[in-house]
Amino acid sequence: MKRHFLSLMDLSTDEFRQLLARAAELKTVHKSGKVIKPLDGKTLAMVFDKSSTRTRVSFEAGMAQLGGSSMFLSPRDLQIGRGEPIEDTARVMSRMVDVIVMRTGEHSNVETFAANSEVPVINALTDMYHPCQLLADMQTYIEHRGDIRGKTVAWIGDGNNVCHSWMNAARLLDFKLVIAVPEGYEPDAQLLAICKDRVSLTTDPVAAATGADVVVTDTWASMGQEDEKAARMKAFAPYIVTRATMAAAKPEAIFMHCLPAYRGSEVETEVIDGPQSVVWDEAENRLHAQKALLEFLLTR
Ligand code: CP
Ligand code: NVA
Repeated sequence: MKRHFLSLMDLSTDEFRQLLARAAELKTVHKSGKVIKPLDGKTLAMVFDKSSTRTRVSFEAGMAQLGGSSMFLSPRDLQIGRGEPIEDTARVMSRMVDVIVMRTGEHSNVETFAANSEVPVINALTDMYHPCQLLADMQTYIEHRGDIRGKTVAWIGDGNNVCHSWMNAARLLDFKLVIAVPEGYEPDAQLLAICKDRVSLTTDPVAAATGADVVVTDTWASMGQEDEKAARMKAFAPYIVTRATMAAAKPEAIFMHCLPAYRGSEVETEVIDGPQSVVWDEAENRLHAQKALLEFLLTR
């Protein structure tokens, strides 16, 4: 049966855990130099309305490593940029390729695309969610510290798309998420209500970090919010993750960031480039986790 991956909630807890185990296995296989081609002859199309380094490179490299091929399409390349409806684009493309990865603004765009697609559609970031990021983030936590169940994560900063996916991960993998956010930048209220058993809010970044197993942040101005940058820099200034923030967390706490990072804004250089930071493993794991996702969606 065709499955889409528009949010983490498209997976059950068991499927999420199995996918993470497979991601770790695929990492070992890749590092050993062994080549496996479960996606031989399969084609991936990537429809990206927004910039990307990690997501694009990891999907293209991952598809090639598994024996498939991929094409990258910006709105400039597609008739979508000249007004062809998303529905028609989805109908046509999905008759030609085996899987479609989409990065766009409004979340309803990926929903519309998926509703009209004959093949699986993967959300590669919308204004609401970034589920692929959380596959890699959870793989990274497990790799460094073991099961995340029952642990405490402090999200310090904007209640944005990546934060929303952390909220879903907290529900699925059963950990506590404390979000420190300035007033007016809270995560989606509806999602918050659904997650209230696992997720709490504060305006105090040090209170959030106290006793945490993970401290995580993201840019203060996401793609599409360039006009709000000055106001955001001001509102978020007290939320920079510093060595003092990390000192409030557990001594074995790790620092995470989906990247791209802006040193001196949301995080101090000494933290992101310091001994508790796992951001490079986190970025690398995008490759392994998405290979597991592609295999899951295309070979079941
Ligand atoms: N973290 C992430 O999705 O990075 P890119 O925007 O570079 O893909
Ligand atoms: N919240 C950021 C994540 C980038 C990977 C954005 O949407 O721009």
